[in-house]
Amino acid sequence: MADMAKMSIGAKTVELPVLTGTDGPPVVDIRKLYAEADVFTYDPGFTSTASCESKITFIDGDAGILLHRGYPIAQLAEQSSFLEVCYLLLNGELPSAKEFEEFNRNITYHTMLHEQFDRFFQGFRRDAHPMAIMVGAVGALSAFYHDSTNVDDPVQRMISSHRLIAKMPTIAARAFKYFRGQPFVHPRNDLSYSENFLRMCFSVPAEDWVPNPVLTKAMDRIFILHADHEQNASTSTVRLAGSSGANPFACIAAGIACLWGPSHGGANEEALNMLIEIGTVDRIPEYVQGVKDRRYRLMGFGHRVYKNYDPRATVMQKTCHEVLAEVGNSDDPLLKVAMELEKIALSDPYFIERKLYPNVDFYSGITLRALGFPPEMFTVLFALARTVGWISQWKEMIEDPSQKIGRPRQIYTGAPARDYTTIDTRD
Ligand code: CMC
Repeated sequence: MADMAKMSIGAKTVELPVLTGTDGPPVVDIRKLYAEADVFTYDPGFTSTASCESKITFIDGDAGILLHRGYPIAQLAEQSSFLEVCYLLLNGELPSAKEFEEFNRNITYHTMLHEQFDRFFQGFRRDAHPMAIMVGAVGALSAFYHDSTNVDDPVQRMISSHRLIAKMPTIAARAFKYFRGQPFVHPRNDLSYSENFLRMCFSVPAEDWVPNPVLTKAMDRIFILHADHEQNASTSTVRLAGSSGANPFACIAAGIACLWGPSHGGANEEALNMLIEIGTVDRIPEYVQGVKDRRYRLMGFGHRVYKNYDPRATVMQKTCHEVLAEVGNSDDPLLKVAMELEKIALSDPYFIERKLYPNVDFYSGITLRALGFPPEMFTVLFALARTVGWISQWKEMIEDPSQKIGRPRQIYTGAPARDYTTIDTRD
């Protein structure tokens, strides 16, 4: 029997069950509150609200812990591969060798896009932001692969999940190529997931991309770091869109739209722009003063859940050093600015009091730039990697018998009921 919480509202007292998960704080189950007490709860931004039950990812923000299906992110980033993490998130367990071989084959053989899909890109302006292309192109997948959009069929759900994980690198690389004005490069089945993606981005007809194991490993690790992050804004968007029964391609397009914002996935692009704007170490104090005067935010810093160092930022910082060393740019002036900015911010009472630490985006921009990507591509890479998280959470939601269509309520503060007046009688 669950513990009970008592809530008194006027003359009424309501008993509410207190639920506990594997870890994390207890959760007061308020589902019957409106029916029994005729009141709503008010929680803009969902700072105290659990919207679902999930077995996929756990975050302890105070301790700086991130687990996928129980496995610490640092171990996955160091020892696993992105595709193995995809299998883990989607299926709940690490695969056996045979299971992985089958999954790898499934993903590899779904990487191509329908020939007609390529023509879809031509409709975008040449200077379109690659994220704008992603929102449109991923939504368009439902028009091409409608044979797997019946959300009530578990086989179709899995086919759509595989298609999305497989086709996202091809679409992302095409968005990049279109942005650059270069011809599209088709996927190759003999390459790994990350190798294939880098080749589709960086090969040109005049010169084939030259594989580099350090850079490929770094790309794969960056994908792992972004694979899932519990009920963040874009994942909640995917779940909410999916709660109406919308098809998974449309739901993921909604997630991409949400991710684009600078407070969420767009922060990696903004963080690099900020470092470029600061430019040199001597300009940091002036910039930090601007943050403290609330003229702007320090991008790549702070997190709704982490009130400690983001464990992904630790791995990202290490990866950043490895990539810069490999491309012969260990003296990157932006890295110096980032490291000094981090040091100054972490010793300043403004940031200490508010528990603001670097998040995954603080070092990702410098790293992705060193890998050869322009800032406009940073959020696209985030979207590519997060697709597995979104689709795993979408699948979990559809398969959860307690799931209902998402429908929050509100405090209405508008005009009271009044009679319509004709225009000739209005002032
Ligand atoms: N720079 C300066 N002040 C900040 C920052 C920041 N980056 N983040 C939070 N604060 C301050 C904020 O002004 C507030 O101060 P006060 O209590 O005096 O009004 C306090 O800290 C709490 O801020 P909040 O806005 O209530 O916090 P939140 O949980 O709603 O916001 C956040 C989380 C990520 C939107 C925010 O920290 C932020 O805007 N960070 C910069 C953008 C960024 O790096 N986003 C990437 C997040 S990680 C990748 C991802 O998952 O998308």
